[in-house]
Amino acid sequence: MLFPDFRGRRLRANKNFRRMIRETRLSSDDLILPLFAIEGTGVKKPIESMPGHFQLSCDHLVKVAQDAHDAGVPALILFGIPDKKDALATRAYAKDGIVQKAIEQIKEKVPDITVITDVCLCGYTDHGHCGIVENGIVENDASLDLLAKTALSHAQAGADMVAPSDMMDGRVAEIRGLLDEEGLSHIPIMSYAVKYNSAFYGPFRQAAESAPQFGDRKTYQMDPANSIEAIREATMDIEEGADIIMVKPALSYLDIIYRLKEEIDLPIAAYNVSGEYSIIKAGEIMGWVNAKDVIMETLVSIKRAGADLILTYSAVDVARELNS
Ligand code: PBG
Repeated sequence: MLFPDFRGRRLRANKNFRRMIRETRLSSDDLILPLFAIEGTGVKKPIESMPGHFQLSCDHLVKVAQDAHDAGVPALILFGIPDKKDALATRAYAKDGIVQKAIEQIKEKVPDITVITDVCLCGYTDHGHCGIVENGIVENDASLDLLAKTALSHAQAGADMVAPSDMMDGRVAEIRGLLDEEGLSHIPIMSYAVKYNSAFYGPFRQAAESAPQFGDRKTYQMDPANSIEAIREATMDIEEGADIIMVKPALSYLDIIYRLKEEIDLPIAAYNVSGEYSIIKAGEIMGWVNAKDVIMETLVSIKRAGADLILTYSAVDVARELNS
């Protein structure tokens, strides 16, 4: 049917028509809030490049977790900034590590919020790489044991789900194996299966103090030019026991989300990363864009592409808006 018989504008004419024929609905159920945990008490240190976000000591973390829960956000994901870093990332799997303590506090005070943990070594190694470095090389197999130990320590501290983000090959199987062995077969793994080597992580590395001290992450994170490889990475992690497959970043990779949604039968999460957040916030500060509207539009686009879950630094504001 062509114009003038068909008129696309008829069903755009008023708010209710638009509401009735809307194809994609963003819900607070879809949102996961990333938070940064730091040692100490009373610490709420602004992250300059991420307005509205802070490095938070456990007392403040609990308050933010409560606010997120009250706003209707179902889950948060924790990143830790340890008191000391070393070659073996010892504080990543210490019983009294920062993330382990944060999990205990949040689960005690805000039991109804789901606590996910980022499992990686980059914030805990003195060289800032996501695995163990030997002779200047990030060693895959030598890193697996430490990653699994880290995931186990999070689950033992009470984490509801673990999310490995290191991009070492074989880590999902290693983590699944150790969790199962230790009686934690009920803990799901959300794998950062398709994680690109992205410049959009810049502000996060400042926030988590996790920038590599030499070289870059190109030998383990994916080349942004590749998409067939994304299917291979996702398939491998599914075989190894992943429960949710993540694509990261989100906005420059909507085609990847779409493609995976067609090809795999697990829930897909997309990480709307720090740089994607900071750029919009900077635009807001400059007075050039309406950040609230731009954020809503970008999150809807991520959902429309096929993401079931979205990790976003805007989770609390967006949940409030959606539930108001
Ligand atoms: C740890 C990790 C990173 C992010 C999440 N987990 C940084 C990196 O890989 O350098 C980035 C998150 C963001 O930019 O918001 N490996």
